[in-house]
Amino acid sequence: VNEGQGSEAQILRGGPVAKRVEADLAEKVSEAKQRGRRPPGLGVLMVGDNPASDVYVGRKVKACARVGMTSRVVRLPATADTPAVLAAVAALNEDPDIDAFIVQMPLPAAVNTDVVLSAVRPEKDADGLHPTNLGRLVVGQPAPVPCTPKGVMRLLAHYGVSVAGRRATVVGRSRLVGWPMAVLLTHAQATVTLAHSRTPDLAGVCREAEILVVAAGRPGLVGLEHVAPGAVVVDVGLTRTPEGLSGDVRFDEVARQAAALTPVPGGVGPLTVAMLLHNAWEAYAREQ
Ligand SMILES: NC(=O)c1ccc[n+]([C@@H]2O[C@H](COP(=O)([O-])OP(=O)(O)OC[C@H]3O[C@@H](n4cnc5c(N)ncnc54)[C@H](OP(=O)(O)O)[C@@H]3O)[C@@H](O)[C@H]2O)c1
Repeated sequence: VNEGQGSEAQILRGGPVAKRVEADLAEKVSEAKQRGRRPPGLGVLMVGDNPASDVYVGRKVKACARVGMTSRVVRLPATADTPAVLAAVAALNEDPDIDAFIVQMPLPAAVNTDVVLSAVRPEKDADGLHPTNLGRLVVGQPAPVPCTPKGVMRLLAHYGVSVAGRRATVVGRSRLVGWPMAVLLTHAQATVTLAHSRTPDLAGVCREAEILVVAAGRPGLVGLEHVAPGAVVVDVGLTRTPEGLSGDVRFDEVARQAAALTPVPGGVGPLTVAMLLHNAWEAYAREQ
């Protein structure tokens, strides 16, 4: 990335980076199978029928197949209550063929997400959302890292964006994306501002950033007025609108000001899936 340039932004595509991660995993899986081990197994627990979740889960299942991992999708009806979901989590925790699994978000409103995520065995937590793993992440101990922020770090590394000593702003403080993103950037020696819906002067706070990561789920929230010339902008947002999939960043506007920018779709999304496979591989490899 040619930071600080005034011309049209470089487009940071996730696809080629994800392909490279997958190729590396496919090789490792194949070697493990040659040594006589069963393939790694990823579980996905889905509750209810959310069309967006269906698409995401389909992508994860296909990605498993591409690298030679097995996958198992466990589906519960939208009427499932917290005890029913906990029973399914307990079965996956005990399943010897499943190395790691995720609980596909969002869960129906009647299910207690916090209780469910805390019931996942930390060793099998493919999304890194168990409180123990998030705690380990904060103190810098080995832990599965939530897939989307892990993917953003991989994307920045791939495109040669230096993080150490830079000013970074993260918009959004969810357990899934914003919080762990801020932690990872901090560990990578950035000076991080974590902005959210109660942040006054969001544009001003964003304009201070050399690296801006937006994960608010608000289509078009970030525009020219939020971006310093030469900044690197990562758009995590993904919202279905009548016009199609939309990111949080007004792409055309920001592309004139930023040094580099991720597209939506085709930016962070492919890497999220690749990092899920990576987390599943690490859980499998630990058992050797
Ligand atoms: N590409 C991928 O692979 C991928 C993966 C995961 C998520 N996503 C997308 O990323 C987005 C965020 O996901 P999430 O799970 O983190 O969402 P979330 O749980 O809804 O969190 C959104 C965060 O954004 C903040 N926010 C909302 N409106 C804002 C505003 N106007 N100004 C500043 N901050 C605002 C919220 O602040 P408060 O805390 O103050 O409410 C909250 O912290 C969604 O579009 C999601 O679909 C994409």
